[in-house]
Amino acid sequence: MTAVGIDAMEIWTGKLKLDLAETFAPAQGDDPGKYTKGLGLHASSFPDVHEDIVTMAANAAHRLMDRKGLEPEDIGRIDVATESSFDNSKPVSTYVAGCLEKVYDGDFHHANKGERKFACISGTQSLDDAYNWIRADRHRGRAAIVIATDTALYARDDPGEATQGAGAVAMLVAEDPDLLELSPEQGFGSADETDFLKPNQQFPSVDGKRSVNVYLARMREALDDFASVSGDIHPEDYPLIPFHTPFPGMVRKAAALGYRHIIRDTEIEDELAEEIGYQPVPEAFDSDDEFYEAIREYTDSLTETERYQAWYGETIDPTLEISRHVGNWYTGSVHIARAAGLKHARENGRDLDGTELLVASYGSGAQAEVHAEKVVEGWEDEIAQLNIDEQIRTRYEMSFEEYEQIHDVHNHDTEADAEAFTDPSEEFVFDGWGRMGERT
Ligand code: HMG
Repeated sequence: MTAVGIDAMEIWTGKLKLDLAETFAPAQGDDPGKYTKGLGLHASSFPDVHEDIVTMAANAAHRLMDRKGLEPEDIGRIDVATESSFDNSKPVSTYVAGCLEKVYDGDFHHANKGERKFACISGTQSLDDAYNWIRADRHRGRAAIVIATDTALYARDDPGEATQGAGAVAMLVAEDPDLLELSPEQGFGSADETDFLKPNQQFPSVDGKRSVNVYLARMREALDDFASVSGDIHPEDYPLIPFHTPFPGMVRKAAALGYRHIIRDTEIEDELAEEIGYQPVPEAFDSDDEFYEAIREYTDSLTETERYQAWYGETIDPTLEISRHVGNWYTGSVHIARAAGLKHARENGRDLDGTELLVASYGSGAQAEVHAEKVVEGWEDEIAQLNIDEQIRTRYEMSFEEYEQIHDVHNHDTEADAEAFTDPSEEFVFDGWGRMGERT
């Protein structure tokens, strides 16, 4: 079977930065530790005045095509995953293709374009769609561009406000990929939930505390479902486990719960139980909330063991390195977690050739998906091309007043006029509907 997977990727962060400890916390009257330690976030990315989900997506896709030497006729499919769409009819991928056609001689007239929606998990679903399209041999030798792009804004003073972020991830999905080969096995945990939704409104209605437990419940189901098709899984078999990362503190909980869930009824559980004096907790409870309450003491002690900490430090913590500085990118979030993990591995000389990552995606509403991705020999060369560190470093840092202004600019319900803070150079810019996606 020919390998199919991610051949290359590019990341584009919104060009503005809000420092949570220095700027946001004092304005809110909060202890900075709530953000930096509790949520694990230091800063958020925001789009400048001339940026939106289309320009960020087009800028990421253009870099990807340029770097891989691709022309429009090499692409048979453009899928955009987003939960920040502004158009209920025309998919964002058509706007992105329109931008790209301004800079290439060819066009995307024979490419299939679409838009995927299922909260944050739709980035991974689009990846799955592209994989299935190639596997079904309907691609005529062409590759797919999958883009996850979002401006994750919350209403001012909503508890989610500290977790905001904005950026795009463009991935090239192709046969014989240079980076990662996707596994045919997938595990799902899916249920109709109403803890996070945006019915005809720009900002989400969120029951934040419950959303955390819904994430954990669906993830446990997806892990079980994945194990039922792939055979027993063991957390220590995977060098990196990128999770959907709304904020690193969420992944701290998901990793501990996931670890405990996977090791239950194994020798490791017995060994650790002896060390921390653990009495197994039954799985059956009336609600997820009750279950997590019952299990919390155990997972808290579990995270203090040397074995767990070594595993977490190597397998999970590196995947959070980008997220800490950019916030939640919704659909792009698990994809920057994967990129962060691989970047860290390359910088630290880890040999990942032929190993498998366990990728744990999640979207409110709610669904989790777990699948494996095999690291392809030569992956380091692809990862070395990412310039996300430089992008993060060179963002314009906003004062709190500037942040308030930018929040209004990107709020569809507010008339706001503002000058851009950064100078667009060789990038697609949003300059009003008539001049959308012009390239400077
Ligand atoms: P909150 O009320 O701002 O925060 O809401 P908190 O009071 O619960 O504090 C957060 C943590 O910081 C706690 O730790 C505190 O103890 C700690 P925990 O008990 O959780 O381990 N803390 C401190 N630590 C050190 N020093 C201090 C300090 N103060 C407090 N001084 C909440 C947090 C997550 C509810 C909020 O941010 C929120 O509503 N976020 C939006 C929803 C969200 O991100 N949910 C995550 C799961 S759902 C998901 O991932 C899907 C999503 O991406 C959307 C999609 O799929 O489309 C959101």
